[in-house]
Amino acid sequence: NQQEKQMLYQALELLTKFYHYVLCNSKYGQKGKEYLIRRGFSEETIEKFQIGYAVDSWEMATRFLQKRGLPLPIIEKAGIISKRNFDNKFFDRFRNRIIFPIWDRRGKTVAFGGRILTNEKPKYINTPESNIFHKGNILYGYHLARSAIKQKNQAVLLEGYVDVIKAHQAGVTNAVASMGTSLTEEQAGLLTRNAETIIICYDSDKAGIEASFRAAEMLKDSGRTIKIAKMPENLDPDDYISKLGGERFRNDVIGASQTLMAFKMDYLRTGRNLYDEGDQMRYIEDVLHEIAGLTKAVERDHYLRQLADEFSISLDALKQQQFQIYRQTK
Ligand code: CTP
Ligand code: MN
Ligand code: MN
Ligand code: MN
Ligand code: MN
Repeated sequence: NQQEKQMLYQALELLTKFYHYVLCNSKYGQKGKEYLIRRGFSEETIEKFQIGYAVDSWEMATRFLQKRGLPLPIIEKAGIISKRNFDNKFFDRFRNRIIFPIWDRRGKTVAFGGRILTNEKPKYINTPESNIFHKGNILYGYHLARSAIKQKNQAVLLEGYVDVIKAHQAGVTNAVASMGTSLTEEQAGLLTRNAETIIICYDSDKAGIEASFRAAEMLKDSGRTIKIAKMPENLDPDDYISKLGGERFRNDVIGASQTLMAFKMDYLRTGRNLYDEGDQMRYIEDVLHEIAGLTKAVERDHYLRQLADEFSISLDALKQQQFQIYRQTK
């Protein structure tokens, strides 16, 4: 079994190099290269993240690995091929896609994410779970970000492959991704291990914002400082960097990240007119609910004062109302 694992690693290592070679050095990869350049990936970045290209072929990867002496069962267990239903024949899983190698924390390739170059679906195909790949245990880009995370004592959590790659290109080298919006306990553990501050910067759509709250709740248990970075509606870090540049991403997004409560308060304001008395009351009530959920009395006091100041309400009145909510939620 240890021997089998070694062969899985070997197959994925060889294929990482193969896909990368095809992208960079062959005419078959040109389409992929142009796509990446159009999206603003630099040559240096393509190297750093060993990005590759899988051509439109049913068997090229399989044949390449077989020629290198790897048996079909290993190629199958590595998740590189899948079985066709109607004739039980194997075929390459990744065809006509940009290839993002996914590494474990030592930097060994354990899987691939493959992105289609058009708007067709599915946008991404990933290697299925295997003996050496458990998606929930991995933060994309961790081995490249670890030293910066330690040095800055801060980690930045993003959603996707492209977000991490573009963040690094923009100088945010302590960025990693959960590969989607459902952060696992294992990923949370890895994230909080070497950093005092965690900044969540998920996509600025409904799914991303709601997932930020869930991730923040999970990460809070570690006792670390959790912050949330805000971007204009419907942008993700990659979109933001492409539109507004790396410097603004560093300063106005990551640098301006807020505490969870401040972010929630902002979120509760959206769509409300706080000059309207009814909207204002509903806003205050919602914020009091959030404050009641805070575990530290000092924190509750801080936000109550802030609320009292902003709306010129007596602190006593707020405390009274909050006490009622506090009792209801207990
Ligand atoms: N994801 C996935 N499979 C999908 C969709 C998403 O594994 N079918 C994961 C990928 O890791 C992806 C991340 O979730 O990078 C975030 O998804 P999404 O925001 O939809 O994609 P982007 O990363 O923004 O990709 P792109 O910019 O290329 O559109
Ligand atoms: Mn290269
Ligand atoms: Mn998304
Ligand atoms: Mn996205
Ligand atoms: Mn994107």
